[in-house]
Amino acid sequence: MTTVEQTIGAPLTRVDGPEKVTGEALYSYEFPTPDITYVWPVQSTIARGRVTEVDASAALALPGVLAVLDSGNAPRLNTDAEVSADLFVLQSPEVAYHGQIVAAVVATSLESAREAAAAVRLSYAPEPHDVVLRADDEAAYVPERVTDGGPGFEERGDVERALAAAPVRTDATYTTPVEHPSPMEPHATIASWQEGRLTLHDSNQGPRFAAQLMAALFGLDLDAVEVVTEHVGGGFGSKGIPRSPAVLAVLAAQVVRRPVKIALTRQQMFALVPHRAPTIQRIRLGAERDGRLTAIDHESVQPRSRMLEFADQTVSSTRMMYAAPDVRTTVKVAPLDIMTPAWFRAPGHTPGMFALESAIDELAVELGMDPIELRIRNEPELDPGTGKPFSSRSLVECLREGAERFGWERRDPAPGVRREGRWLVGTGMAASHHPDYTAPSTATARAEPDGTFVVRIGAVDIGTGARTVLTQVAADALGVSPTRLRLEIGRASLGVAPFAGGSMGTSSWGWAVHKACRALVEEMRGYAGVVPDGGLEVVADTTEDLQQRADLSRHTFGAQFAQVRVDADTGEIRVDRMLGVFAAGRILSPATARSQFLGAMTMGLSMALLEVGEVDPAFGDFANHDFAGYHIAANADVPKLEVHWLDERDDRLNPVGGKGIGELGIVGSAAAIANAFHHATGVRVRDLPIRIERSR
Ligand code: MOS
Repeated sequence: MTTVEQTIGAPLTRVDGPEKVTGEALYSYEFPTPDITYVWPVQSTIARGRVTEVDASAALALPGVLAVLDSGNAPRLNTDAEVSADLFVLQSPEVAYHGQIVAAVVATSLESAREAAAAVRLSYAPEPHDVVLRADDEAAYVPERVTDGGPGFEERGDVERALAAAPVRTDATYTTPVEHPSPMEPHATIASWQEGRLTLHDSNQGPRFAAQLMAALFGLDLDAVEVVTEHVGGGFGSKGIPRSPAVLAVLAAQVVRRPVKIALTRQQMFALVPHRAPTIQRIRLGAERDGRLTAIDHESVQPRSRMLEFADQTVSSTRMMYAAPDVRTTVKVAPLDIMTPAWFRAPGHTPGMFALESAIDELAVELGMDPIELRIRNEPELDPGTGKPFSSRSLVECLREGAERFGWERRDPAPGVRREGRWLVGTGMAASHHPDYTAPSTATARAEPDGTFVVRIGAVDIGTGARTVLTQVAADALGVSPTRLRLEIGRASLGVAPFAGGSMGTSSWGWAVHKACRALVEEMRGYAGVVPDGGLEVVADTTEDLQQRADLSRHTFGAQFAQVRVDADTGEIRVDRMLGVFAAGRILSPATARSQFLGAMTMGLSMALLEVGEVDPAFGDFANHDFAGYHIAANADVPKLEVHWLDERDDRLNPVGGKGIGELGIVGSAAAIANAFHHATGVRVRDLPIRIERSR
């Protein structure tokens, strides 16, 4: 029944591909909803202070307008809920950041809502604001925890002493800017209330998380909230939880007693969807002349909002990448008048590894040593951060295979000496790393009397191919062709399941799907393979499996290579070639996995050369807030991209054998480009993005 080409490890094309390309796949905003109304937010034009008056008269006089909401008349939320105050929409006249929702119009048409929102007159009592990150901000402090649960500060050994004693040292400061996650599908929600029950069609990365959050905010039981998330056009972390516009839609639906929908415009995305926190990172390295690292000191200063402590895990890769006896890692957060930053693809690791992998390259230059050799020389036996064994760690293999495929051995290390006409040409590399997370999940597998199967899990496909890979996992575990099974995902009511974040979706959901399907096969044996009339159904939960799993250090690794050329006269930078080799356990769904790596490497290229949210100190917002001003790599920017992976076998992960891959591909790619830029020009750019004006 099963054919090898159709299950795990085979390049099955996307099971929802035809639905998507024919337009049959419905995204959240598109669900036909009778009696629908539209809400349009009014956003603050000050960055700090208070709304003193909302004059809604002109707005209310416009045709089709049903309500104008502000903090005076909006329904009350449960502000004891343990969520960021960013989500306490219209609960107070205080303004905490520029662009915050301070009022909203609900109307019977989108156009009326938009026009009326522009007619709402607001008065403010502004207060001085500060939105600029500074390394020496006196209010910056070390948080107890960073987002991965690690400490804000950690020191092993005595870093100052080790640095003082090191024969070779580097000391440099790197900066990364605000980056805006910009999924193709903007955040969108339809909210409907029916007799105290709430239904959302919402574009998010985890319907179960979304339901929990809404239940907490609106004081509801979890089973009174259904969140349907059928298709999602990208998230990159920004849809990890519902954001303020989704809460606004629910409030509005409560007021007008009709379903309400909202979809953010691209410009609204920049103000209402959290960005990647900028960083100022200082890295000091100490080494022996043979390249062995003796000390690493990595400090990152980042902004937080005044509403919530958010501390990206910027130094976490540094805690476990290399074998150095003395390591100090510090995150500091500075409260500013900004919205709370949040996750953006490989949060923390992406900016952190830009800095660390640039610093390692600088050390290689200082030592006159090959940067790959330098990394191999510092390969640890055990996880240097925890002392635990790795379940598998194939960084060295990735580096070696990458070097071979890229043609690294022909490289002349001297910077700034290769010219092709007016172009200076150089190559560079960097290591890549992301933790492999897995969370408890439940899944249901059902056999129908007609020989078909249904598998249900509260997973979500944010464009990654989750439907496809879970279909493969289920087909494999059931021993049937994927054509005989139907997978249902994308609903909070399908049970406990983690979100599509932290690269943990496939391993977490896949484990539960595998377990449920195997249990169903067992169950069917009792019926000699004849499914009874009512069908057979099995529910599996991986909570205990996870508790019993060996206490190992689980991570994914990769090696990134890049070739760039720089116009010697104008400074124009082009990336000619990128190559990545990754090790992430068993690659379950090669076709969609390749897309993940290609997309993430492209995002790394975009980070290296293009993306920057320009903070405007005067107004407290971003000077660029659309795609005209905020550039994202487009086809013409993307070079020859090659993705490879190792066949990493690791039987101590989960029964399916795969690690997460959604984020790994972005980590290190910007450093590889920056290192190649140095090799091409002899100029070290430590501030992203690398732009013409920084290139000399
Ligand atoms: Mo990812 S930024 O953890 O969704």
